[in-house]
Amino acid sequence: MAYLLALDQGTSSSRSIIFDQRGNIISTAQQEFTQYFPQAAWVEHDAMEIWHSQRATIQQVLQQSGLQAQQISAIGITNQRETTILWNRKTGLPLGPAIVWQDRRTARQCEDLREQGYAKLIQEKTGLILDPYFSASKIAWILQHIPDARAQAQRGELAFGTVDSWLAYQLSGQQLHVTDVTNASRTMLWNIHTREWDKELLALFDIPRSLLPEVCPSSYYFGDCHLFGSAIPIAGIAGDQQAALFGQACFRTGMAKNTYGTGCFALLQTGAFCSHSQHGLISTAACQIDQHPQYALEGSVFIGGAVVQWLRDYLHLAPSAKDIDALASSVPDSDGVIFVPAFTGLGAPYWDANARGAILGLHRGSSAAHIARAAIEAIAFQTAELLMAMQKDSPTPILELRVDGGAATNTTLLQFQADLLGIPVVRPRVLETTALGAAYLAGLQTGVYSNPEECSALWQEQQRFLPQISRTQADHRLQIWKNAVARLL
Ligand code: G3P
Repeated sequence: MAYLLALDQGTSSSRSIIFDQRGNIISTAQQEFTQYFPQAAWVEHDAMEIWHSQRATIQQVLQQSGLQAQQISAIGITNQRETTILWNRKTGLPLGPAIVWQDRRTARQCEDLREQGYAKLIQEKTGLILDPYFSASKIAWILQHIPDARAQAQRGELAFGTVDSWLAYQLSGQQLHVTDVTNASRTMLWNIHTREWDKELLALFDIPRSLLPEVCPSSYYFGDCHLFGSAIPIAGIAGDQQAALFGQACFRTGMAKNTYGTGCFALLQTGAFCSHSQHGLISTAACQIDQHPQYALEGSVFIGGAVVQWLRDYLHLAPSAKDIDALASSVPDSDGVIFVPAFTGLGAPYWDANARGAILGLHRGSSAAHIARAAIEAIAFQTAELLMAMQKDSPTPILELRVDGGAATNTTLLQFQADLLGIPVVRPRVLETTALGAAYLAGLQTGVYSNPEECSALWQEQQRFLPQISRTQADHRLQIWKNAVARLL
């Protein structure tokens, strides 16, 4: 039996999972780490804490499983995307806090570029919407604001990486400076058509080429990790949402998945065709396992499961996320309460970096349970808007939605999702599809699997949620949601 170690470095926690070659979970470990909010709409992480928490979970899963490093066929890395880290190549130390994908500090700079007419050029080259979400403006901010950063960059001493690069650097004993196509496609510096770092965009953001990592396929021998006893090949890297698309075995054009994580991310497989959305979605590289590029359309919602964390940690509605879910399910509906959790602006399809959250429709009888219910419904409303945009962009109808992520355990949410969408929502047996995708990519490179069809054969449905309300009722509810959002724009 072969074993694969997947590292899933997410926004809220670092996790490691060992899978056997049949896709069964053998051992899992998770560590939450600190979220820093130094100013309104700023979100930071400590890059060293990310690495230390990740390393601790690797040690823990190895210990729990009783497996030795030489029994692990390969490591696959999957990660929160766009989050920007600059480090000094000589000292190996980060230059400052990691600027997290949710951070909006560069909204003004993006607006300036939009006013100067660059949005179209950027979209054509990268498939992305000009927004602070992506790495480019975050790198520019660091070079401009961290003392001595620009001078160090000019001397070639600095490296930029998204979290995958940072982990590969640490895992390889500070040898590798690499990324994969899926992560590169989120930087806003990588041309999705030529599949190279784009000189014109580098000049536009004033970012030296010397900062950037080598871009490789997602299933690829990147190098070895020697930190845990014997050498383990690092053989897979993919951004978490593309990894989940892979782990959900959405290999055929027209197959779609949604991950309910900190945010919500819906991806539609578009195969060899890089389509450009007419409805506010972005084009992105899907995992590459050979020389044939694959693409996806993506809709990103910035606050998904994070709204539950907020109710727990800031409103203290209940002591755990599970209790919030139970509270939400204790009432049949939100009784007219609508919660728009635009804490860090709105992503697809609105792309408004300056929008902020609101709870509307409160009355004297509104309770904590109604607010919790409205928060859960908001996750489904936002996802429904992504899928509706996808349906409009997709040449083939989307027949079902495969779902995963932490909140996919919530049956109230998934039933409401199916009701809104009018298509089946399907939950797989293994919900850890992000980590599974990374494990598959690493396993394909190291001969554990000979082709993606073998991975596809391992996918199993656990539960299917069918729509239970009429389209008229669903449209009515969606219209109320859209009206609420419109008040914040
Ligand atoms: O684009 C951001 C995304 O990759 C973060 O994912 O799972 O940490 O919410 P997650």
